[in-house]
Amino acid sequence: MTTHASPSLSERYQQATNYTPASLQGHPALDFSRQPAPFKTWHQARRILLPRDGEAGDEGVLNAAGLGRLLHHTYGVTLVREAPGMSMHYRASPSAGGLYPTEVYVAVRGLPQIPDGIFAYDAREHALVVCWEGDFGADIARHAFEHPAVAAASVVLIGTGLYERSAWRYGDRAYRRVLLDTGHVFGNAVVASDALDAVLVPVSSFRDEGIEELLLLDPAREGVLVLGAVLTREAAAELAASTPLRSETAHAAPAPEPGSWIDAVHGAGRMDAPLPAADPEARETLPAGLTPPVALARPTRSRTPASTLEAIRSRRSTRVYAPQRVPLGDLATVLSAAYPAAESAEPRARLAEDVLDTWVVTTGVEDLADGVHHYDPAEHTLTATRHGNAREALHRCCLWQELGRDCAFVVIHSIELPAAIAQYGERIYRAAHLDAGLLGQRLNLGALAVGLGASGIGGFFDEHLNALLGLSPRHAIVYVTTIGVPA
Ligand SMILES: Cc1cc2nc3c(=O)[nH]c(=O)nc-3n(C[C@H](O)[C@H](O)[C@H](O)COP(=O)(O)O)c2cc1C
Repeated sequence: MTTHASPSLSERYQQATNYTPASLQGHPALDFSRQPAPFKTWHQARRILLPRDGEAGDEGVLNAAGLGRLLHHTYGVTLVREAPGMSMHYRASPSAGGLYPTEVYVAVRGLPQIPDGIFAYDAREHALVVCWEGDFGADIARHAFEHPAVAAASVVLIGTGLYERSAWRYGDRAYRRVLLDTGHVFGNAVVASDALDAVLVPVSSFRDEGIEELLLLDPAREGVLVLGAVLTREAAAELAASTPLRSETAHAAPAPEPGSWIDAVHGAGRMDAPLPAADPEARETLPAGLTPPVALARPTRSRTPASTLEAIRSRRSTRVYAPQRVPLGDLATVLSAAYPAAESAEPRARLAEDVLDTWVVTTGVEDLADGVHHYDPAEHTLTATRHGNAREALHRCCLWQELGRDCAFVVIHSIELPAAIAQYGERIYRAAHLDAGLLGQRLNLGALAVGLGASGIGGFFDEHLNALLGLSPRHAIVYVTTIGVPA
């Protein structure tokens, strides 16, 4: 293993933003008068109203009606609740604290009914706001280092994060949640594209500056996080799976002041040109299995496209679980929704597949001993690494949120940061969080499909979770998804 005098910037960011019982003491009260608006105000006069879902339109996604459906099921407004003095707009995708830091832009070329151009998606109006007219496909492909999916696509979704919306509440730790949120949005885009008979290929390696300039972003406030190339199934079948490109590391960078971490960690992940690929480093041995792996069943029937889209439109995060047990088959189906079999036609659509570990902590699953299990997506197996009921431990780990205590199982994503950064550079920090968010959304939708509920948990005591999973501090906890029976 390579040893450096100081850890990479991503490791230091992770450490600096860990929640501990002490770090959460004395948090200032939120000043709601200063809460940033969850929508941008667009001054451009030119906008193209998209057809509402259900209105007449051609089949497929590569036309105005199809693009409208895709955007609505990616990040559209799906519920408006009136509260005193305000309207709360809930979206197709969940968001930590309901703060919605993600913005979605779309670059289009060669579509009927829509001029070539770059547009911002205005979810309230369900409209495309014209940023630029013209074919920018070649520019975006160049900024994405000629990624073949981006180069071939006539529609590219662009996910950005407006940090202050989330940092208002979560401070420096907001960057983690902005990435997870945006991963959820792109998880919807992957699933909705599939239901609309297309394939969305997410891409997290690109030259930030080029795309920031195209979108006229202020990089101090908003970062480009992920691209999604929308392809026909035929075009997608021609492409080989891609791995993340390697960026620089920032071991020598000085530690930023509190309040400046987001700019620093996002900046450390920038890439001008990818570095030559590096061989993987030896990874730390994970906790040993206590019993042989348990093979999980794959569902025999997949959902219809219409029911998948309906689930996205009607989904909400579960707020309270009834502490009831769920069948092992349901757990297997939920995992299958997020990690389809290699030979299945469903999109794999991963961003950090070889560096993210998946753990399942079961507290209420029939025919499976309570405990900690390591999940192998390739084999679709669970290997128990620790026995015992962790309800109380999960309650504490999840900042005493009852969701952690009363769910039937949690799925936790972790990454061995020093090894991942040695292989891929600092940029892998972004990709891993986006990937975990994307998987989180697929787990959420998979839970709904079997009548269960789900909620992400972005607030957790990091070190307590390391202890629960038996992981050394080299492993960063990326995300927690709770799943169970809604009360
Ligand atoms: C990254 C992420 C982290 C979240 N963390 C929590 C959490 O710690 N506790 C919680 O109760 N809900 C959490 N949620 C759920 C949000 O509160 C919920 O998505 C938001 O209120 C919008 O409601 P909806 O998901 O029902 O549309 C999280 C969601 C996401 C995407």
